[in-house]
Amino acid sequence: VAETTNRRILVAATPEGPLAEKHFRIEDGAVPEPGEGEVLVRTVLLSIDPANRAWLQGRTYRDQVLPGEVMAGLVVGEVAAENGTGVPIGTYVVGDGGWAEYSVLPAGRVRQIEPAGDLAYHLGVFGPTGLTAYFGLFDVGRPAAGETVLVSAAAGATGSVVGQLARIHGCRVVGVTGSAAKNQVLTTRLGFDAAIDHRSPTFADDLRHACPNGVDVYFDNVGGHVLDSALRRMNTHGRIVCCGAVSQYDTGTPAPGPAGVPGLVVTKRLRMEGLLVFDYTQRFGEAVAALAGWLRAGELVELHDIVEGLANAPRALIGMLAGENVGKRIVRVGPDRLPATA
Ligand SMILES: NC(=O)c1ccc[n+]([C@@H]2O[C@H](COP(=O)([O-])OP(=O)(O)OC[C@H]3O[C@@H](n4cnc5c(N)ncnc54)[C@H](OP(=O)(O)O)[C@@H]3O)[C@@H](O)[C@H]2O)c1
Repeated sequence: VAETTNRRILVAATPEGPLAEKHFRIEDGAVPEPGEGEVLVRTVLLSIDPANRAWLQGRTYRDQVLPGEVMAGLVVGEVAAENGTGVPIGTYVVGDGGWAEYSVLPAGRVRQIEPAGDLAYHLGVFGPTGLTAYFGLFDVGRPAAGETVLVSAAAGATGSVVGQLARIHGCRVVGVTGSAAKNQVLTTRLGFDAAIDHRSPTFADDLRHACPNGVDVYFDNVGGHVLDSALRRMNTHGRIVCCGAVSQYDTGTPAPGPAGVPGLVVTKRLRMEGLLVFDYTQRFGEAVAALAGWLRAGELVELHDIVEGLANAPRALIGMLAGENVGKRIVRVGPDRLPATA
């Protein structure tokens, strides 16, 4: 490997309240050598996900990321060296590389990809968020044409795909975001029927007006007061897809619940069901083929939002939690390909 320095971002402290730059620190070290069965991956793109914040707190499906450790994150990168794996140098892979210019991973823990087209698609529409949208909507939400589908964080990576898939499926689609500018994108570019603002003091009324026939499927990315209001608008036999609760991630003390929920679930015979996209690994091919078809046909628009430079990763995550991003937020860490050396 020509490069000798490996810039990494480590967790400096576990946040107790809102995430800040002081919770991270940059460290320059040596590029690691892959051990037997491992590959060295040069990071090109780093995925920024709301779950990154939850991992710092530790209440999730993976181990807490502790102070002194490299911040965890999904990357798309190029294999720069390998040790007895048979993976050719120059292969493009997706893996849990973390916030670093280079990372060493077991060959069995990276997924090889065909780097045709825009690499960002492998973190967005063909990555965990696009796949979550597909399986969450169709397998868990199971909407019928003509039904009303409500989705929160609707201009984000997952929500923007959910809403478009529901529209393609023939549903009436209503989005919830935190800004008028995002709502404009939903109704003018992505074909949503209506979009409302969760920061509005009249949110509950706005929801009622936007969903005159009630809600059949609520795809919940945020929890909190949006879920409270959505529960009250659900139709009998409605389905709530519990995908995430981003409104509760940026704190050491999430709001308690769900005190009044069971009564509503009983009287309306609702189904609330969680999903983790990794449970669908065996079916990723089916989803990617379907998503690629809709993209090719121009029915599905992919939105991503690139922040330049690894050093800006903390700011990119903090900004995402504040609602800055439109589409899939990604940090560009390095060029797609290194210039050829003589
Ligand atoms: N279950 C799974 O396997 C799986 C996989 C991937 C993602 N997820 C979940 O899916 C959800 C969306 O993730 P994503 O990667 O697609 O992120 P994203 O939607 O692209 O970005 C997060 C968005 O959440 C919204 N938000 C932040 N704080 C909020 C609050 N207090 N109330 C309401 N909205 C708030 C912000 O937009 P606005 O406020 O402007 O709307 C922000 O842009 C997250 O909960 C994530 O954990 C789950």
